[in-house]
Amino acid sequence: MADQSATADALTAQLACSVCRTRLPLLDDSPTVRCRACGAEFARGRYVLDLTPPERFRARSGLWEAWDRIQANGMAGYLADPERNLSIGQRDDCSAFRRFSRCRGLVLDVGCGPQAWPAYFDRSPLVRYVGIDPLADLNPSEFLKFAGLGEFLPFASGGFDHVLFATTLDHFVDPDTVLTEAVRVLKSDGEIDVWLGEKDPAAPGPARSPEWYQRLEQPALADDLFHIKRMNDGDVQALVERAGLTVVDRERHQVDQYRANCFYRLRVAP
Ligand SMILES: C[S@@+](CC[C@H](N)C(=O)[O-])C[C@H]1O[C@@H](n2cnc3c(N)ncnc32)[C@H](O)[C@@H]1O
Ligand SMILES: [Zn+2]
Repeated sequence: MADQSATADALTAQLACSVCRTRLPLLDDSPTVRCRACGAEFARGRYVLDLTPPERFRARSGLWEAWDRIQANGMAGYLADPERNLSIGQRDDCSAFRRFSRCRGLVLDVGCGPQAWPAYFDRSPLVRYVGIDPLADLNPSEFLKFAGLGEFLPFASGGFDHVLFATTLDHFVDPDTVLTEAVRVLKSDGEIDVWLGEKDPAAPGPARSPEWYQRLEQPALADDLFHIKRMNDGDVQALVERAGLTVVDRERHQVDQYRANCFYRLRVAP
């Protein structure tokens, strides 16, 4: 098990209310944590603290309703076939992203998934991971994680050496806000590492789908069963520019005629 207590120490100064960003009193074992400034309450789940802003602090929209359905579809896939739907086990694409992101220091993984240890994480003692994901409470993990949303990061500003997005950008309701949040919690010399799975819209669907897949419903506002908005390289470039970031390095790994894994290393633009 990775050293969660060292990570917890490093995080004690970083943890903040996801609604108003006031520092939260620490990672003790009480069943709820209450923000002294805005009164938001956060409950401990089976395994992790849930730092999702309570409903009354969040605007709902048709897109968030679509996101609820997408998340339910994703969960069906993660439970029925975790190896194919999450970064688990020995995989060349995960190893390639691990090498590309070359993480050191305190690393935040936004959308880390429900698995115990994402396969693109590095076992080096020079890295300490913190994860955030709406599905974080599904399983225990080998690293410190929280339930929550990338749009409302529950951390103080300027504390992380890296922020990771591993096949998550196309799952967000508001990727612009998520990237702005990532910049906020990043150290001034930190890096954001993105893995985008690019797929040509003309790619043929699977010849046969398993039964759990056939039962899923696609919301009208979503691009497909699992993604709010599929992105390509041009979409990422535009998003990066709008967030005041710049691409300092990139790799493209073609998977087949229709699919590629695109990696981007981002820094705050000078
Ligand atoms: C394709 S999975 C990738 C999980 C993990 N990074 C991996 O590679 O195995 C997408 C993840 O994004 C998470 N996600 C969706 N919306 C999110 C949001 N608003 N904030 C943070 N994570 C989100 C989902 O719960 C899911 O775990
Ligand atoms: Zn607060």
